[in-house]
Amino acid sequence: MKRSKSRTTRRDKFKACFSSRSNLWTTPPDLFKKLDAKYHFNLDPCCTHETALCKDHFTPAEDGLQQSWAFKCVFCNPPYSWEGGLWVAKAYFEAKENGALVICLLPVRTDTRWFHEFVLKAEETEFIKGRLKFGNSKNSAPFPSIIVRFGCDCGSCCELRGKGEL
Ligand SMILES: C[S@@+](CC[C@H](N)C(=O)[O-])C[C@H]1O[C@@H](n2cnc3c(N)ncnc32)[C@H](O)[C@@H]1O
Repeated sequence: MKRSKSRTTRRDKFKACFSSRSNLWTTPPDLFKKLDAKYHFNLDPCCTHETALCKDHFTPAEDGLQQSWAFKCVFCNPPYSWEGGLWVAKAYFEAKENGALVICLLPVRTDTRWFHEFVLKAEETEFIKGRLKFGNSKNSAPFPSIIVRFGCDCGSCCELRGKGEL
């Protein structure tokens, strides 16, 4: 039987979500608001000027992977392409060696090296129940997400970082 050309299959949706366009998918505002109220972020290292969630931010032109995140309170929703692992490694080492506190919003990919090497060593993880709707999408993502905290367990420094007092 012939399949209608206009029908969007699960595979199409999956491909769309993992295409380079998905690199531009933005954090759901309600989720960011909730996390920002807790952590007072002062650096978004991967964004465009239009999608930046913090005044201090890095776009591909500055390349957030090459910049220092030292002592910053960072919110990182990295491009969901193959380079995802580089961002998670960067988050891990900036927290471990440079005093950053980094909250990452990541896809749950338990079969990857970066998940085992870094996410499983994070200070805190929270698996999100259900699926997020990124950007302006009406559809839920075809993958689950996780919030990962690298660095800091003191419970009081985030506010100071956010105010630039640390
Ligand atoms: C998933 S979006 C997140 C956007 C925004 N930070 C948010 O959370 O809503 C990832 C962003 O990283 C940007 N990006 C890709 N490579 C980058 C790089 N090397 N340095 C900084 N930003 C980069 C992309 O242009 C894209 O806007």
